[in-house]
Amino acid sequence: MLVTGKAILHHAHENEYAVGAFNVNNMEQVQAIIEAAEETKSPVIIQASQGGLQYAGVEYIAQMAKVAAEKASVPVAIHLDHGTDFKQIMLCIRNGFTSVMIDGSHYELEENIRKTKQIVEMAHAVGVSVEAELGKIGGTEDDISVDEKDATYTDPDEAEKFVAETGIDSLAIAVGTAHGPYKGEPKLDFDRIKIIKERLNMPIVLHGSSGVPEESIKKAVSLGINKINIDTDIRMVFHKAVKEFIASNPDTYDPRKIVGPARKAMKEVIAEKMNMFGSSDKA
Ligand code: G3H
Ligand code: 13P
Ligand code: ZN
Ligand code: NA
Repeated sequence: MLVTGKAILHHAHENEYAVGAFNVNNMEQVQAIIEAAEETKSPVIIQASQGGLQYAGVEYIAQMAKVAAEKASVPVAIHLDHGTDFKQIMLCIRNGFTSVMIDGSHYELEENIRKTKQIVEMAHAVGVSVEAELGKIGGTEDDISVDEKDATYTDPDEAEKFVAETGIDSLAIAVGTAHGPYKGEPKLDFDRIKIIKERLNMPIVLHGSSGVPEESIKKAVSLGINKINIDTDIRMVFHKAVKEFIASNPDTYDPRKIVGPARKAMKEVIAEKMNMFGSSDKA
């Protein structure tokens, strides 16, 4: 069933687990996510970035995700990932997204608050949930020094002020993860997760979660992370499956035969993630 992001994350916060938020830009990804959620009886968030929406078309993503959500027996939210543009966010809401992210993390605190607050007022007026970001989540850098850490990681005092002034439903925090694959092993600032969770007592979000070892993910969840964003790991599973299929069946040209195995492989990895995040049997 289609629900708001807030409903899903409130339940996760109250029951101390995390929900997977998986990026999509095509039908097979949407289906893989829903099949995994049904199999594990897991609430789930289907999300698309602005780039994903540009690729597929916002209407296609919204409609595919809506069909999937409405057919599903588990709670499903449809979420805009890293929204930066007012018009784009409005368009997603108009097309039925039940949750949006406003990413003003590259602005100064006051400007981030101002931009986020504007989206919260508009989205909440029509029952749509809002995630925002504070601190700078890494690109692909790995070893960040202590000084850089204080400058870029989410500051707990600022987080408290940010939440109080904006009224957001969930907060994405910078604690050592980075979007994309890692060169070495990512080192998460677990103390910071713990402090932020204690101070905010609300759903908090981990971005850049592909490539983070299982023990770190589980520890982050135990300290209060409630939404875990995964994109790269699923892209890689897709790529591997397609590559292997084509290598062993170079003359097969039917797209269903080429992409079908990738859908199955993505479903399996997504189900494993759901077990790891603790969302299985929580629907
Ligand atoms: O946060 C970034 C997501 O992985 C989306 O990436 O902008 O290439 O779609 P993208
Ligand atoms: P990864 O690509 O590292 O999984 O990050 C995804 C993400 O944070 C999307 O917002
Ligand atoms: Zn992200
Ligand atoms: Na990552």
